[in-house]
Amino acid sequence: MVLEVKNLSKSFGGLKVVDQLSFSVARGERLALIGPNGAGKTTVFNLITGVYAPDGGAIVLEGNDITRLPSRLRIRRGLARTFQNIRLMPHLTVLENVMIAQYARSPGVAALLQPVGFGRANRWRTEARAALAEAGLESYAGQMAGGLPYGIQKRIELVRALAAAPRVLLLDEPAAGLNPAETEALHPALEAIAARGVTLVVVEHDMQFVGRLCQRVVVLNFGVKIAECPVADIHGDRRVREAYLGTDELAA
Ligand SMILES: Nc1ncnc2c1ncn2[C@@H]1O[C@H](COP(=O)(O)OP(=O)(O)OP(=O)(O)O)[C@@H](O)[C@H]1O
Ligand SMILES: [Mg+2]
Repeated sequence: MVLEVKNLSKSFGGLKVVDQLSFSVARGERLALIGPNGAGKTTVFNLITGVYAPDGGAIVLEGNDITRLPSRLRIRRGLARTFQNIRLMPHLTVLENVMIAQYARSPGVAALLQPVGFGRANRWRTEARAALAEAGLESYAGQMAGGLPYGIQKRIELVRALAAAPRVLLLDEPAAGLNPAETEALHPALEAIAARGVTLVVVEHDMQFVGRLCQRVVVLNFGVKIAECPVADIHGDRRVREAYLGTDELAA
């Protein structure tokens, strides 16, 4: 297993947001983590990436317990994510945004305190340009990130996450806010990432998107895992249908 979540729990002010959650992800798998709004999906990502410390349980990445490891060291161990709310620096160029992500993955806090040598900056610039070209975003390199269409910003976020050369990539609502054409374009982009051997864990409300991308689903409701099954079986589960009652997210 490339990633294991074991009995993970987290409360905020007495409210149990993640409750004894366990699941694991095999290398090369694409797992969806779904559930109604407020189910705790983003919190699970925040626990896995070290934004929050869990109240209990453990996170194991490639056989190593990373539960108490600082975020930046988890990135260096091969874990990356995108955010539900875009986190680009709006007043920097697209190229600079990607370069910052490369800077963040460079070894040691000491590196952050040292002036960046010309050699290193040039190498990052070249790598960042190549990464943007690979994603078909080269023409945006010199533009301010903040002024670009939402769909483009989300693709830049993906390039930033890949700058850490992850083996496990957590995607928090990659299709949210995208128009149908942008959503369609996301599929080959994610397929290409998966083809490199990157394991994907995807939080997403768009079930059509999930059905096409993922093989397996873990369903959360009020922080509790209520189902875990092949993606094709999701509509047949009574507890899952009940959890989504009143929403149209599971509409076939
Ligand atoms: N830092 C925090 N402080 C207090 N409560 C929080 C915090 N983060 C999340 N919560 C609460 O935890 C619950 C789960 O939130 P979370 O963002 O994980 O849900 P989600 O499944 O990602 O929902 P959505 O589909 O709307 O993104 C919510 O009730 C939320 O208000
Ligand atoms: Mg969320």
